[in-house]
Amino acid sequence: MFWNDVYKGTPPWDLDRPQPAFQALIQSGEIKPGRALDIGCGRGENAIMLAMNGCDATGIDLAENAISDAKTKAIERHVKLNFVVGNVLQMDRLFTEGEFDVVIDSGLFHVMMDEERPVFAQQVHRILKNGGKYFMLCFSDKEPGEYELPRRVSKAEIESTFSPLFNIIYIKDVAFDSLLNPSSRKAYLLSATRS
Ligand SMILES: C[S@@+](CC[C@H](N)C(=O)[O-])C[C@H]1O[C@@H](n2cnc3c(N)ncnc32)[C@H](O)[C@@H]1O
Repeated sequence: MFWNDVYKGTPPWDLDRPQPAFQALIQSGEIKPGRALDIGCGRGENAIMLAMNGCDATGIDLAENAISDAKTKAIERHVKLNFVVGNVLQMDRLFTEGEFDVVIDSGLFHVMMDEERPVFAQQVHRILKNGGKYFMLCFSDKEPGEYELPRRVSKAEIESTFSPLFNIIYIKDVAFDSLLNPSSRKAYLLSATRS
């Protein structure tokens, strides 16, 4: 499987530290202690940060290799949280409706195909409490390099995917750190609440 193979090495997003955009959300108090889910959590740095800041945190990812490494990391750092292997497009099989106060997404939405986007939005909506928060970090269309993956996402695409089910609070210009040169990519941060 593509995603499992990626984690046999170190992919460019695998910083071994949390993304600064999510650290800032904790510092600003936008993410507060509560039930939190990191979707497409990879090797778990952002989920571990949530747990270290008072959240009852879970990370989910399709890649067994990544989840196995995330579990090892959490044990080594003495941080308690859950990691599960699973498909975010089928979260109704794993989580109950309204289970989470906050869902974070660091680079997952931007790998979804067009036809997956409405299902993705419905799945995130379903697992959030009424008024629950969704924070999503994706490459923006301001980042140069038309054909390089992942796809660049426009504000209009974010709005059309999420506004049917969420109240959009803001879509901000932020940086997406990576191990590549240049190390920081142009990104959007979406803050939305379940409507
Ligand atoms: C760009 S990586 C970001 C990983 C992590 N959030 C980080 O910041 O290091 C996207 C992640 O989404 C996962 N992924 C892709 N499609 C998925 C799906 N349908 N369900 C769950 N995880 C998925 C991949 O395995 C990969 O770990």
